[in-house]
Amino acid sequence: MNILRHDGVLVVGAGLAGLSAALAAAPTPVLVLTGAALGSGASSAWAQGGLAAALAEDDAPALHAADTIAAGAGLVDAAMAAVLTEEGPAAVRALAALGAPFDRNADGSFHQSLEAAHSRARVARVKGDQAGAAIMGAVIAGVLAAPHIEVRAGYRLRALLKDVEGRVVGVVAEADGALVQIRSHAVILATGGIGGLYALTTTPAELIGEGLGLAAQAGAVIADPEFVQFHPTALDVGADPAPLVTEALRGEGAFLVDRAGRRFMADYHPDAELAPRDVVARAIHAERAAGRGAFLDCREAAGAHFAEEFPTVFAACMAAGVDPRAQPIPVTPACHYHMGGIATGADGATSLPGLFAVGEVASTGVHGANRLASNSLLEAAVFGARAGCAAAQAVGSSAALQSVVVPPLLPREALQSLRRAMSRDAGVLRDARGLDNLLAEIDALEAVHGRAASLTAARLVAACAIARVESRGGHFRLDAPRPGAPRRTFVTLNEVEARSALKFAAE
Ligand code: SIN
Repeated sequence: MNILRHDGVLVVGAGLAGLSAALAAAPTPVLVLTGAALGSGASSAWAQGGLAAALAEDDAPALHAADTIAAGAGLVDAAMAAVLTEEGPAAVRALAALGAPFDRNADGSFHQSLEAAHSRARVARVKGDQAGAAIMGAVIAGVLAAPHIEVRAGYRLRALLKDVEGRVVGVVAEADGALVQIRSHAVILATGGIGGLYALTTTPAELIGEGLGLAAQAGAVIADPEFVQFHPTALDVGADPAPLVTEALRGEGAFLVDRAGRRFMADYHPDAELAPRDVVARAIHAERAAGRGAFLDCREAAGAHFAEEFPTVFAACMAAGVDPRAQPIPVTPACHYHMGGIATGADGATSLPGLFAVGEVASTGVHGANRLASNSLLEAAVFGARAGCAAAQAVGSSAALQSVVVPPLLPREALQSLRRAMSRDAGVLRDARGLDNLLAEIDALEAVHGRAASLTAARLVAACAIARVESRGGHFRLDAPRPGAPRRTFVTLNEVEARSALKFAAE
């Protein structure tokens, strides 16, 4: 295997979190590895919402933190939410200074929009649904101009390298079919979420939890993996991934109807269309399961202005033969965000020395059981930068390497079968029977294909969903529909693998 030595920080992944870390690490040299070309393959560039931040006169970080904590259904780490919300306004200003073209009011202040479960209009957006692409455009320009950053595209993470003292000292990556060892002073994982483990997802399909799975295989502590957020309104036209229909449309007054045109959300929650995201997702799931269908009627809310105000959604609808100016849009819940991930502190440090994690692959504790809308790009910018600064202080290890096992990749057909099982059994509604079936399917796939990182990620979700015998936020158990005592999950893969599902659940 070829060996490459990088005297600095290695960042794996090039969404907003990874690139924020890379920029913040200056002047320490940073090598960024990405599978796809910059700007693709990362959920950040697909984000339609924006960054939630207390930028308005009538707002304050403490109010934003309170909304974040309320949405998180008892599991938000309040100290981390305070960091996120206090540093939020500066993070938005820093992105604007890089060139992100946020919408502005006539007086130059940031224009802010309302999204579900926010007590204030506090989402800084770009031209309706363009925030992710526009912000990433500005950040990528900054990265390409930064003399301390080198970007290499076409690299897939295959394993973490540890020294004999247990410190993470680099990675094994695959490029052009060959494996290469890359040694570095510190590794920042910014590999994104697990949407591609689900048959229905709004995220890039290549995000199959490999960073999470490899960190778990290396022994990192994993937090809250059972908490997955399903966006209520993905466009239901059979596309994979499913295009997102932004929540901002509901913020502008679009409403949900069944096939007969009857509004149904008031049957489920007093806040109707602006109820918490998990409530809306379950309501849509129920209407569809009952055969009534679910559609978002935007004809009055966006109407003739749809193409100018929500160009991404408009283009996706029109490409699927749905004219949202003239007809309600068919919608379905789809996997959108993973609240769980590699457990980190406020500077991105994980339980493994030398390893940092940022963005969706991390679990800082700010999202709890249910992420508040538009807090994820904010988390990526705030905690990405903090991790970049911290990792830049790391010094190289001179200890010998542990031998490394490079796990197999999951073949395409097996991945498709896993995706169907995850959507069926670890989706909007769950129960012990379905989750047991899912775990049995993961065992069977692993027996045939080996301990692929994506199977490890799926196992963490399934096993911890079995163990959480209650309903909370994005985790709804039909066989335990009420919340129990609030507690976060912190596990290692050894613990998950060593215990039988039943024993694990009993603890
Ligand atoms: C949306 O635009 O509906 C998604 C925003 C988010 O996921 O935070």
